[in-house]
Amino acid sequence: MSDPFVEVITESDLQRRVSQLGAEIADDYQTTVPVVVGVLKGSIPFLADLVRAIDSTLQVDFLSLTRFGEEGRVSIAMDVSVPLRGRDVIIVEDIVDTGLTLTALHRMLMLREPNSLQTVTLLDKAPRRIVDIDLAYRGFEIGDEFLLGYGLDWGGHYRNLRSLWAVMDLGAFADDPHRFTEVVHPSAGGAFLRR
Ligand code: IMP
Ligand code: MG
Repeated sequence: MSDPFVEVITESDLQRRVSQLGAEIADDYQTTVPVVVGVLKGSIPFLADLVRAIDSTLQVDFLSLTRFGEEGRVSIAMDVSVPLRGRDVIIVEDIVDTGLTLTALHRMLMLREPNSLQTVTLLDKAPRRIVDIDLAYRGFEIGDEFLLGYGLDWGGHYRNLRSLWAVMDLGAFADDPHRFTEVVHPSAGGAFLRR
């Protein structure tokens, strides 16, 4: 039987790619102080590594979104703490899937009249895209598999993994998530919050 969980992007692959993205961004924003806006919560590990790879002055801020239904309606649940008017804004996403969330966020932030608005996403699940969007920076293009770790979650779990894992059989995983916990935290007690 094939492995139910596969480590698809290792910690060192992540660190290498994030360093490259940071260098690119530092290069592109030399003459300005951008606001780097992390979309909570999935962007946290990526953002923490990315901003430390950007060797120039910037500000860090956060927002969180609430999604309604399947059709991509979102609202801002927690907003950034600085005005974005006239600023160079960089949205930091963990993953762009259908693109609906990012499209809605982009539209809302454009109303604030930033000087520029770009997106950096760690992962681009390009085959699932429904709406066309412009991604200025992306770490990795991936296929249609469900990934966990380095910010990506299942019911809030597994964001703290240092690398990215693919779940090969989502149905079997959902029935018994403990098996994955045992793989990624072999020496831990196996505590798991039931949903
Ligand atoms: P979309 O681009 O509007 O479809 O939404 C992207 C959101 O879907 C991300 O912010 C994640 O919360 C979630 N998501 C999409 N693919 C995955 C995955 O493979 N693992 C974990 N969460 C995912
Ligand atoms: Mg999520």
